[in-house]
Amino acid sequence: MADLIDSAMDDTATDCEHAEPAPRCAIELVPVTSDNLDKVRRINTVLFPVRYSDRFYTNLLTVGEFAQLAVVDGRCVGVVGCQPEASVADQALADQVYIMTLGVLAPYRRLGIGRHLLRHVLAHAEALNRAASDPGRRLRRVYLHVQVSNDEALHFYQAHGFVIASEVPNYYNRIEPTSAYLLVRSLLPENGSPPVTPA
Ligand SMILES: CC(C)(COP(=O)(O)OP(=O)(O)OC[C@H]1O[C@@H](n2cnc3c(N)ncnc32)[C@H](O)[C@@H]1OP(=O)(O)O)[C@@H](O)C(=O)NCCC(=O)NCCS
Repeated sequence: MADLIDSAMDDTATDCEHAEPAPRCAIELVPVTSDNLDKVRRINTVLFPVRYSDRFYTNLLTVGEFAQLAVVDGRCVGVVGCQPEASVADQALADQVYIMTLGVLAPYRRLGIGRHLLRHVLAHAEALNRAASDPGRRLRRVYLHVQVSNDEALHFYQAHGFVIASEVPNYYNRIEPTSAYLLVRSLLPENGSPPVTPA
């Protein structure tokens, strides 16, 4: 699969506004492993203005189902990486999931690939909650930061049940605008009804 990403990267490196739209086709999710970590790194480099550390990538190898590559027609075109974590500093158990990165290469957007990646994350978190016998060990929410100017991502997450919890000034150091929205989606039942992952 070493060269599979190359053509997608080439597409992205050119003017994506004029790229041929990719045909709708089956999306395969592949767990992130040391064998494909380099592809994850390359997709993230194209997608995000932030450079992630080697530690970030090594950490992706530890989160299991929460780190996935999206493959379409044999090409790696999207990625998600999440971190289960504790909401309180000295708490040992993870009670929330942070979406560190979720992105789809530009020529492949609006084909449902981002939704597929996000639904996988939500479904895995919900499965972990179902398997937790002690309610105190459940994951309570999924959250992430989105740059306030990122309308695409805002629409995407709001379409999937996320709400703006707050605006965080000076969240970013090297990109403008520096503010981020903190977006949150509950994983716990409200009013007796379990949250529904949108179709
Ligand atoms: C945000 C992002 C991941 C969406 O991926 P995608 O594969 O294009 O999204 P999908 O095709 O699954 O869209 C699902 C739904 O989200 C909403 N949505 C997605 N992109 C949208 C846009 N640009 N404008 C309005 N709504 C949008 C729509 O409701 C869409 O459903 P529809 O196409 O049936 O109308 C993608 O735009 C991206 O990679 N952006 C750059 C990286 C980034 O900013 N990531 C977020 C921070 S982690």
